[in-house]
Amino acid sequence: MQKAPFIVIEGLEGAGKTTALGYIKAWLEQNSIDYIQTREPGGTPMAEQLRDLVKAIRDNEKVTPEAELLIMYASRVQLIENVIKPAQAEGKWVIGDRHDLSSRAYQGGGRGISDSLIEPIRKAVLKGFEPDLTFYLDIPPEIGLERARARGELDRIELEQMTFFTQTRAKYLEIAQSDDKIKVINAQQPAEIVGQQLQALLTEYFKR
Ligand SMILES: Nc1ncnc2c1ncn2[C@@H]1O[C@H](COP(=O)(O)OP(=O)(O)O)[C@@H](O)[C@H]1O
Ligand SMILES: [Mg+2]
Repeated sequence: MQKAPFIVIEGLEGAGKTTALGYIKAWLEQNSIDYIQTREPGGTPMAEQLRDLVKAIRDNEKVTPEAELLIMYASRVQLIENVIKPAQAEGKWVIGDRHDLSSRAYQGGGRGISDSLIEPIRKAVLKGFEPDLTFYLDIPPEIGLERARARGELDRIELEQMTFFTQTRAKYLEIAQSDDKIKVINAQQPAEIVGQQLQALLTEYFKR
């Protein structure tokens, strides 16, 4: 049996990832596909603790880009080894709300950490593990943040300056351009249109 697919949804805060997941789940259910859903950072007891640590607003301590990066990879490897790979081995599809592309875009683009630090860490930790398909929901940060603000309180990363998100978006687009397993979706369209495009790509890609 071929390994069950790992599909990831990516994008800035408020891009519509959680909303889009609903359309992906509907497609999976229509096709009677067994799946689990994950989120990053998080998804195991320890990784959820790391999520809380990295998102907490800290008045008296600067969180270094390097510490942030390492927490993201610690969380990710816990999730891959304890949840994603075991699910795939049982034939369950895995649908991820964020994955490695987030670190490359946020810590690489937003924080400006060089590839000479990120790439060796990625290689050592992921050992070639990657999603079968990634949907990147592209949105101007001011629109995404407006939506996220309307949804509720912002965390430490969501409170960053606009340049941080502009650089993050640029890195997302740059990486997507050089990887045909990353599909760019215009997230300014109405949610139903985004959902239809995702479902059409799933049908095309997985020939259901
Ligand atoms: N395509 C869309 N157009 C307008 N509003 C949207 C769209 N997709 C999601 N929203 C709304 O924007 C907010 C953030 O969406 P959400 O799915 O939580 O984004 P994310 O998970 O990427 O942060 C929610 O209130 C949601 O209803
Ligand atoms: Mg979300």
